[in-house]
Amino acid sequence: MTPPEGPLPLGATIGILGGGQLGRMSAMAAARLGYRTHVFAPDADSPGMQVATTHTRADYADTQALARFAAAVDVVTFEFENVPAATLAALEGRVPCRPGLGVLAIGQDRLEEKRFLERAGVPVAPWAPVHDESGLAAALERIGLPAVLKTTRLGYDGRGQAVLRDPADAAAAFARLQPKPLVLEAFVPFVAEVSAIVARGADGAVAVYDVTENIHRHHILDLSFAPARIPPVVAEAARGHVRRLAESLGLVGLMALEMFLLADGTLLGNEIAPRPHNSGHWTMDACACGQFEQHVRAVAGLPLGDPARHADAVMGNLVGPEGLAAWTGLLAAPGVAPHWYGKAEAREGRKLGHANLLMPLDSLAARPAGWRPPVFAG
Ligand SMILES: Nc1ncnc2c1ncn2[C@@H]1O[C@H](COP(=O)(O)OP(=O)(O)O)[C@@H](O)[C@H]1O
Ligand SMILES: [Mg+2]
Repeated sequence: MTPPEGPLPLGATIGILGGGQLGRMSAMAAARLGYRTHVFAPDADSPGMQVATTHTRADYADTQALARFAAAVDVVTFEFENVPAATLAALEGRVPCRPGLGVLAIGQDRLEEKRFLERAGVPVAPWAPVHDESGLAAALERIGLPAVLKTTRLGYDGRGQAVLRDPADAAAAFARLQPKPLVLEAFVPFVAEVSAIVARGADGAVAVYDVTENIHRHHILDLSFAPARIPPVVAEAARGHVRRLAESLGLVGLMALEMFLLADGTLLGNEIAPRPHNSGHWTMDACACGQFEQHVRAVAGLPLGDPARHADAVMGNLVGPEGLAAWTGLLAAPGVAPHWYGKAEAREGRKLGHANLLMPLDSLAARPAGWRPPVFAG
């Protein structure tokens, strides 16, 4: 449907597909800007439902529930990129959706994503689609080893991928990884992983946050340092990449680009996420306008906020079950802004919350290699 002219009026309702922490923090930001929220998700007592004005608990394929949802909200966004495309398609005729189906579809499929990155001038590691075992042999021939075999859909936090070091690893990984098709990527000998977040408003204005350096543990984001310790030209290139992506998509909303940094300063695009991103959580406390508020501003047709960083920050993820044990200590720690998601269980490997350690502007540049803030020890 044609998007509304001008900003959503105060008191209007933003519909959010997905009930996770990204929707929760978007709903909290929306409330601060004077909007109501309506979360649509299949799971009971989800983090987003706990704070939204109202919610619908229904399957993403429930067309009657979707029709009622469309009638009850003024605009729709999503916090989870695996919302079925058919769900957004069912809504798009009835209510403005930001971002739209085209953006969602690219973010859901690693092959589409790589083609899109290449078209937009963001280089990626050599890759080849793998539809069957003969395709796997051909891809291995072309890409070589080590390589990473990934599902093209539904992967997250390192689930749905396997590192191949030996030709003998390939057949078992191919059999295990579901759903097909897969994609084989060259293993990237990166010196750092960085990400950049961009928002683009309905008026075409663009805001880009400072580049973040990300450390993973067991394939799950562990720490994000803002700013990344990279040469200014590399930071400018990363910001330029994400800005170009937003512009070439005609994005109205927020998106993140994960990148690998090579020793020679080259940046390779890894994946995009057309929604607030875990590596942008530091912006909640270290910027006048954090990524969730920025997301809401874009979706609501408001002018974008100021993405400038007023402090250095280290974001530490609180992952179950250790994250629960760390919570009380973080509440008492100076300079720490804690965020809890309200998940029902502190299950192994689940993100339960995060905390932002704020530090004086430009103090992080002097950190020793491998430094971990003591407050996030263990
Ligand atoms: N081609 C690659 N080379 C080296 N490391 C990789 C490669 N692809 C992924 N990784 C590692 O695995 C992590 C998760 O992979 P990613 O493609 O971002 O999937 P997801 O975040 O959806 O699980 C990356 O952040 C990186 O640490
Ligand atoms: Mg990733």
